[in-house]
Amino acid sequence: EKDGHDWFMRKEIHEQPRAVADSLLGRRTPAGQLQLDEVRISDEDLRDIDKVIIIACGTSFYAGMVAKYAIEHWCRIPCEVELASEFRYRDPILTRETLVVAISQSGETADTLQAIRHARTQRSKVLAICNTNGSTIPRESDAVIYTHAGPEIGVASTKGFLTQLVACYLLALYLAQVKGTRYGDEINQVMDQLEAMPGHIQTVLDREEEVYALAKSYVGARSVLFLGRHAGYPVALEGALKLKELAYLHAEGFAAGELKHGPIALVEQDLPIWCVVPPRGRDQLHEKMISGIQEVRARGARTICLAEDGDTAIEPYADVLIRLPKVPTLLQPLVAAVPLQLFACELATLMGHDVDQPRNLAKSVTVE
Ligand code: M6R
Repeated sequence: EKDGHDWFMRKEIHEQPRAVADSLLGRRTPAGQLQLDEVRISDEDLRDIDKVIIIACGTSFYAGMVAKYAIEHWCRIPCEVELASEFRYRDPILTRETLVVAISQSGETADTLQAIRHARTQRSKVLAICNTNGSTIPRESDAVIYTHAGPEIGVASTKGFLTQLVACYLLALYLAQVKGTRYGDEINQVMDQLEAMPGHIQTVLDREEEVYALAKSYVGARSVLFLGRHAGYPVALEGALKLKELAYLHAEGFAAGELKHGPIALVEQDLPIWCVVPPRGRDQLHEKMISGIQEVRARGARTICLAEDGDTAIEPYADVLIRLPKVPTLLQPLVAAVPLQLFACELATLMGHDVDQPRNLAKSVTVE
């Protein structure tokens, strides 16, 4: 049942190329239009949407953070991301023109469900992104985009996360198509890039031994930090959450630009810091990330850099370099998250923990 793997989690990590491919299947018409059959909200209603609010918990929340970057960039619609557990207690401003997007792998998370109920009392439209057919959250929503990860057994979300990212990109592109903020050619170009992702994820998996070797040298570490920028920031948060859940280790993710505003005081000799390095581009993100990395190295940190193939500029600043395939910045979380999953899984295994059933945690959190 675990396909020869020691844990469901490890099996599920390896299923990601397939899960991502399945989640992309049948989304384009022969004429090259994006179609999301399960979105039962009319194009007319979608055109009127003037704000998107994403609600979710844990790893699903991090997928929502990536979605915000995609939605604002491609659709020019203001988008907020909020922890479901905080949402209804702050009296959020909701109208008929607000689209609430609830992201939940299990479809049973109580915090998310209560947030949906609140949004619906305010007459906002709710769209669920969910992996579990017939679960409560899609049943109580106006529309749903199902991810096709297949059952996720490990408590730590892996293929659930990657397929949520895919659903978020699809939703963003669909809104762009309906609103006319992006041309068909551009949408098709991104779809082509998405369809190449299963192959890229496989490339990362084929290099798993490097990550396992690295995990060996971190048994006994007391604290691990993660830095990212832009779409790499939620990846940093996700990497830290995986380590907390599985290795019971103090781990924190930061936006690299925030370092100088406080967290850099944490850096001491030999502190391991994972750095999610953005692809080189016209946006200066890459240069900014390198200067953050220089700052922490100057204070004795050991940097483990995730950087794209061919990025030679990073080499002098990486104590360890893990290569990622070249992909666009917005899509990079689909490849960058994978080594962090492998690292947490391996480190927890080496520490003798139960990876599939970490202490104090349940797969779906059905109490608020
Ligand atoms: O089923 P959901 O996506 O609603 O679950 C949300 C969180 O409870 C979940 O992502 C949790 O953080 C995972 N254990 C993370 O690995």
